[in-house]
Amino acid sequence: MSVDLQQLHTFQLPAKASALFRLSSLAQLPDLAKLDNVIILAGGSNTLFIDDYQGTVVVPDFTGIEESETATDYKLRVGAAENWHQLVNYCLTKNINGLENLALIPGTVGAAPVQNIGAYGIEVGTFIDSVEVVDINAAKQQRFSAKDCQFAYRDSLFKQNPGRYLITHVNFNIPKQWQPVLSYGPLQSLIGKEVNARAVYDKVIEVRQSKLPDPEITPNAGSFFKNPVVSKQHLQQILENHPDVVYFQQGNDVKLAAGWMIDRVGLKGLEINGAAVHQQQALVLVNKGTATADAVIRLCRKIVHEVFHAFAVRLEPEVRLIGRAGLLSPPELES
Ligand code: EPU
Repeated sequence: MSVDLQQLHTFQLPAKASALFRLSSLAQLPDLAKLDNVIILAGGSNTLFIDDYQGTVVVPDFTGIEESETATDYKLRVGAAENWHQLVNYCLTKNINGLENLALIPGTVGAAPVQNIGAYGIEVGTFIDSVEVVDINAAKQQRFSAKDCQFAYRDSLFKQNPGRYLITHVNFNIPKQWQPVLSYGPLQSLIGKEVNARAVYDKVIEVRQSKLPDPEITPNAGSFFKNPVVSKQHLQQILENHPDVVYFQQGNDVKLAAGWMIDRVGLKGLEINGAAVHQQQALVLVNKGTATADAVIRLCRKIVHEVFHAFAVRLEPEVRLIGRAGLLSPPELES
């Protein structure tokens, strides 16, 4: 018996898996241990199934929010299957401020640490105290401190070990002392004004809605590529031909705006058989309804090729691409 995956990932490519297993209790661990070829899938908002998956898709189904506080911090223990944006709303209504820059990011709470979701100057890792997981290899529970999670730009221990750790709960530590983070582009318009968390939240939602397609209306998986990190020497070479290239400091290196580069090489709006570069944000690829996996891969290769030709920078997918045998790595995407 196979399972239809089209409605289980927001890019909505036609694909199937051999089986689906929902894990909502640790009592199910012996059954989980019996499964072969397991991949973990949460909200499916950062995953594309580009073929029928020959294995079992495991969906974490732990829910609930437990709240406590110390003199200085709010503490939340949240089930992995809770919706991320609803958690941001929950915090806002309870006057627990800090997550507002991360409003409207699709997906679940359990997926948030995997790629250390980030937007508008904030990454979720900053607010994580620890992450509770099931180690699938050993079929046992484990807890990682924030330090052990090795959070970095769109990266973590969980992303480095795909399929190994299934996140059941995330423990947040949110300082009561709140400072708005207004450093990122469009939020700077709020600097100097009397702002509260609600105002930041409203602005983030306004900006996201103006640029990013709603997956409920236009299937997509958000940013398709990571913003590449290059050396300052490399940046100097790019600046010679492209003095207006958009970049951000990243330690001793710089992070280039991949959306800007794709836009600059003239690919915004390009469509191949229903897979297209989004008109308002070139870093996002969309499914116009009829896209096939083949079309997405062709579009992806075209973008990687053109950007490499213009800037000598190799873009890497930010999304997870799952083929017949599991996760695809970048060399498999090259033509
Ligand atoms: N830009 C263009 N043309 C485009 C797209 C972008 O010129 O078609 C320019 C923008 O004008 C801006 C710069 O490139 O100067 C950066 O664009 P933007 O602020 O939209 O952010 P981004 O770097 O493209 C990243 C995240 C987004 C996140 C935003 C805001 C990654 C891979 N993506 O995008 O995350 O919302 O910053 O913080 O880091 C996601 O992960 O799915 C996602 C949407």
